[in-house]
Amino acid sequence: MNSSKGRFITFEGGEGVGKSTQIHRLAKVLRRRGLDVLVTREPGGSQGAEAVRNVLLSGAAEEFGVRMEALLFAAARSDHIEEVIRPAIEEGAIVLCDRFMDSSRVYQGVTGNLEPQFVNHLERIAVNGMTPDLTLVLDLPAETGLKRAKLREGKNAAPDRFEKEELATHEKRREAFVDLTRSEPDRCKLINAGQAEDVVALAILNAVEDILDESVPQAAAQDGKA
Ligand code: TYD
Repeated sequence: MNSSKGRFITFEGGEGVGKSTQIHRLAKVLRRRGLDVLVTREPGGSQGAEAVRNVLLSGAAEEFGVRMEALLFAAARSDHIEEVIRPAIEEGAIVLCDRFMDSSRVYQGVTGNLEPQFVNHLERIAVNGMTPDLTLVLDLPAETGLKRAKLREGKNAAPDRFEKEELATHEKRREAFVDLTRSEPDRCKLINAGQAEDVVALAILNAVEDILDESVPQAAAQDGKA
């Protein structure tokens, strides 16, 4: 654990798996229990990282290659960790982060074909010890997720740098997230995101409750589960 009170929880998965909906639902439930919750996202989440976000998602860095993109994701992550996440955890907050280091492992490492050693080194430098206490991997067939993402963004919206890639690439990412979950079962939990929204929310809450200790008020544990 990162501290006796704070908890660091990350949400991962392919495009359109429903991470942000579920993060906001979970935040609401935890806040009702009197817990201090910080919702954040990557790339971004701090002033410096938000400045890099647009460079990455617009595709402006694409022509400089995947190493360059990986370095920019890592730079953004380092700023986000040191400026926002670590201070919040030290204050005892529960930090819910939409994407984190596993997205770099999958998008830049697996489907970007970057050498694992390079990805690992960057991860170690950027994360600097702040490994998530729990990572919820939302799993959905890539085609379903892409359709959902399209609906959310509106029919005429242009897909971003990563969404625009081929279906086979998105399926490869899905498999990579599943493999990663299996390889780190203590930290990662696979959630079937194809179920009804309430069912997904309950599965997430159950996993989160497992990592919250007695510092959670007992009475609060009896309120509605989603
Ligand atoms: P975003 O608009 O935040 O969408 P999503 O709802 O999919 O999270 O886009 C973030 C995009 O950046 C997403 O396609 C995944 C990609 N990404 C990486 O390639 N590497 C990373 O390390 C991170 C954090 C995100």
